[in-house]
Amino acid sequence: MEKPTLKEFVKTNNSVLGEQFAQIIVALQSTAVIVNSKLARNGLIAEQGSSGDKNVYGEDVQKLDEYANELFTQAFLSCNCVYSVGSEELAQPKLSGHDGIYSITHDPLDGSSNIDTNLPIGTIFAVYPKSETLLQKGSTITASGYVLYGPSLMLIYATKGSVNGFTYDPKFGDFILSHPNIAIGSKKIYSINEGYWELFHENDQNYLSSIKKEGSYSLRYVGSMVGDVHRTLLKGGIFLYPSDKKHPEGKLRLLYEAAPLGFLIIQSGGSAISNGTNPLDIIPAKHDQRVPIILGSKDEVEKYLGFFKPQ
Ligand code: AHG
Ligand code: MN
Ligand code: MN
Repeated sequence: MEKPTLKEFVKTNNSVLGEQFAQIIVALQSTAVIVNSKLARNGLIAEQGSSGDKNVYGEDVQKLDEYANELFTQAFLSCNCVYSVGSEELAQPKLSGHDGIYSITHDPLDGSSNIDTNLPIGTIFAVYPKSETLLQKGSTITASGYVLYGPSLMLIYATKGSVNGFTYDPKFGDFILSHPNIAIGSKKIYSINEGYWELFHENDQNYLSSIKKEGSYSLRYVGSMVGDVHRTLLKGGIFLYPSDKKHPEGKLRLLYEAAPLGFLIIQSGGSAISNGTNPLDIIPAKHDQRVPIILGSKDEVEKYLGFFKPQ
């Protein structure tokens, strides 16, 4: 049997989420293709380097961050099933003006420090039932996932209990189901910016020293959360961005990074933890809230918890 396209898959498998959800996936996939074709010419385009602006986190905004933010935000807002859209690059969410049934959060370009070196980057998204506020627990997420701009263009998304991956085939101009029913892998790989060793809390240092002593772990760190989480999903292991002496709250954003990818990893059979609790149980106090995040296979997160101390 032929592999279904993303649109066919959504129609068959997500019918309970309605035609509205299919509309969001269509907006997402067509915007991903446009952003991907812009990124394919990276190095030749005008949208290169820093925009000169800082975002709400005080980080340098790249011109491509702005470009992707504009495209994804507008694509979601133009869906009449979407009520509101929040983005890592927006200080406040935008209302679509439609009486939609969904709210969306996104990180339009994740891993932007990798843009200049042609390394994998991504887009992260989460779809929530419509609410007056985006400050909702991740456990209310309807679907979440990411686009990976790598050697091939991929779109992976999770709904309750199911994670599926699609690869863009430029020959057909469509996303095709390439990774059905993904269950998190079981390889021993740890992924953390170990350059911060001196900043790490003692319990994290103890954990890392202990797994290194086992002699069976590989270290992989792309520096794009999407890339690192994608590898963790397919191969297994653990991804960590804990709090440390320089990042007392952690670095990654609850609404735009930790909750969407935490939800996805949990649906694949893995675990996620933030300061000892399930990140999906945290009610964000503000849109730009950062949290420590550790996610991966159940065994690996369990092992990490053996060393955990609340900070
Ligand atoms: P963004 O490009 O959206 O700001 O996110 C960057 C994040 C994330 O992708 C990655 O895991 C992390 O920053 C890397 O941070 P370090 O450079 O501190 O390791
Ligand atoms: Mn990011
Ligand atoms: Mn970003």
